[in-house]
Amino acid sequence: MKLIRFDEERRIFHLTSGDSSYIMGVNAQNFLIHGYWGRKLPDSDFNYLMETQGHSSFEACEDNEVGYWHSPNCMRMEFPVTGRQDVKKTALELKNADGTNMLDLRYQGYKIHEGKPGLPGLPATYETEKGQAETLEVILLDDHSNIEVSVFYSVWAHLNAICRWAVVKNNGNTPVMLERVMSGCVDFPDRDYIMTTNYGAWANERQIEKHRLFSGVQGLYSRKGTSSHMHNPFVILQRPTSDEYQGDVYGAVLAYSGNYEAVVDVDSYGMSRMILGINPDGFTWKLEPGETFTTPELCLAYSYKGVNGMSNTFHKLFRDHMARGKYKNTRRPVLLNTWEGCYFGINEELIENIAKEAAKLGVELLVVDDGWFGERNNDMTSLGDWYPNKAKLPNGVEGMAKKVNAAGVDLGIWFEPEMISKESQLYKKHPEWTLCVKGRLISQGRNQYVLDMSRQDVQDYLYDCIADTIKKGNITYVKWDYNRNHAEIGSELLPADRQGEVGHRYVLGLYALMERLVTNFPDVLFESCSGGGGRFDAGLLYYMPQAWTSDDTDAIMRLSIQYGTSLVYPLSSMSAHISVCPNHQTWRSVSYKTRQDVAYTGSFGFELDPLKLSEEERAQMAATAEDYKSYGDLFVNGDYYRLANIYDDKCSAWMFVSPEKDFALVTHASIDVNIEGPQKKFKLYGLDENATYVDEGRGRIYSGAALMYDGLPMDGLGDRATATYKLKKM
Ligand code: DGJ
Repeated sequence: MKLIRFDEERRIFHLTSGDSSYIMGVNAQNFLIHGYWGRKLPDSDFNYLMETQGHSSFEACEDNEVGYWHSPNCMRMEFPVTGRQDVKKTALELKNADGTNMLDLRYQGYKIHEGKPGLPGLPATYETEKGQAETLEVILLDDHSNIEVSVFYSVWAHLNAICRWAVVKNNGNTPVMLERVMSGCVDFPDRDYIMTTNYGAWANERQIEKHRLFSGVQGLYSRKGTSSHMHNPFVILQRPTSDEYQGDVYGAVLAYSGNYEAVVDVDSYGMSRMILGINPDGFTWKLEPGETFTTPELCLAYSYKGVNGMSNTFHKLFRDHMARGKYKNTRRPVLLNTWEGCYFGINEELIENIAKEAAKLGVELLVVDDGWFGERNNDMTSLGDWYPNKAKLPNGVEGMAKKVNAAGVDLGIWFEPEMISKESQLYKKHPEWTLCVKGRLISQGRNQYVLDMSRQDVQDYLYDCIADTIKKGNITYVKWDYNRNHAEIGSELLPADRQGEVGHRYVLGLYALMERLVTNFPDVLFESCSGGGGRFDAGLLYYMPQAWTSDDTDAIMRLSIQYGTSLVYPLSSMSAHISVCPNHQTWRSVSYKTRQDVAYTGSFGFELDPLKLSEEERAQMAATAEDYKSYGDLFVNGDYYRLANIYDDKCSAWMFVSPEKDFALVTHASIDVNIEGPQKKFKLYGLDENATYVDEGRGRIYSGAALMYDGLPMDGLGDRATATYKLKKM
């Protein structure tokens, strides 16, 4: 059966994705009305879903005869606009040539497209096989101004996910100013939901907060120029009766790396409008006649199997249909990053010695972090001068690469391409390349300015520098860092009425540069980083399949950071490293085993100098590297289930199950000692209930059913300790 069906007579669209249904229709006034989103329904007469409750006071509608409740302000709108009776947060607001914001979008028609189209210049999910997706385009028109909006919905045969975006076309005769263009909106019929959001800061990303929806606007935003450490662009709404493994849960993730807004607006009638897109604050876009504007993609997931079911859908969507490149479905190379081990103190001889030692330990990739270029001995200088520091690398990147490769290890390298130090050759040559507002002070963050990524000459310069280094150094991995917020958001090249476009043009410029690099270097593994996880978003996964989750490598802090990240992002995208003890961010001491078990995500590595470690510690590293090589594919492609979390359970536990269900790895981490408590037992998920599994470490035999319905008993744990259990199908 087709995934998208239109009932011509009743004018109802029924979209099915995986085992969910999304229903909308065109009402008598030609508004596009939201009907239902939830568990899959059989086709039927869905006209009842188009009814609006009889609210009345004060609402404006076009004809009093039909009743006040025929105001869009009381309807569940699919793509609400400002200017026609809807006085809540809307998806589109613009300024016409006459200075008003009048806009009235009515249904015009629809098209069904095979597959999943890409979005021009923006990250977008894609099919890996023909027939996995279908796309509905609903066309809405303001016949006064000839502004036309296509609202897109891509649905997937195998996933409970819907990917949405909108394209605004100016078919009129005068330019209009877009002031608010959101990617998508869902008008839920009531407000009986718990909203999960996240907050954080450097070294403390994606901490989780929940609240019952309240009246008014609630949500998240960024104006930092990136998706930011502070809040990540996702929201989750769940029924109060749902939990990790059962009940209705709705998730929304914006695939965008710049300023965004993600809000839920609960109105006075108890309806909840969830709406996400580019942050309208500070944004305008001049749309000339004949031009179009495409919003970033909004990825939605529904689960009736609780929060974990929603996470599984997002994991598959982002891992298989958003991330690209050679490594997206394979174990990542075991890497060793020099940052915490050497900071700026690297040189060719040291790198060669580390490479030789790393090779003995089973490390496959040595990443030379900050400090290899220009005059870079601290963070005061040289960003932009992407040529080797001769004092440290007398034979250039090529010389260093030869030595690292001769040791049997690949070479990776660090860049912070979007930045420029005041103390740099590049700034002397091109001060005009800096993001700035003419005549005003340019503020610094970590002693650096931001480059104007909207400029083609800036993109070209960066492309040449990065491409040249990759070629010369036989580079197989690039860490792409970014370490300050935007402040003075202006571009020398744009006229006054286009300065409101700079924030978005910056992101488009960044995406264009990355697209060029990943197209020309498809085998290079790119990892994004922004002082850790300050730009960990679905948009960047399109170019870089993994991200440095946090600068905080403390295993105990990582329990909550990785938990929050796992709500929507796949484990394959989460970089996690073993660093030294005591930890450099928290000065906490945690055992090697705990650090190792927590760092086992999809993208594992070390962040230390092995030459400073004892024989015993190096032996531990070698064993870990070998172990990771056997399980790395499981961490990338297996299903991930959260079993306990530090917020509710005062411990953490999770498991990976192989796609064939023949192997599972369960990890339990304590954050405290529980002397007299009952023995912990966690019900497992995703196993074959009819199979028998052997617990390889303890030699016990369990049925899949016993593990799933009774649970796996845990050994007692000391303080901040971990245990892993490997269960193999017999
Ligand atoms: C911030 C990153 O998060 C670190 O991992 C490291 O690369 C430093 N920048 C280098 O300056």
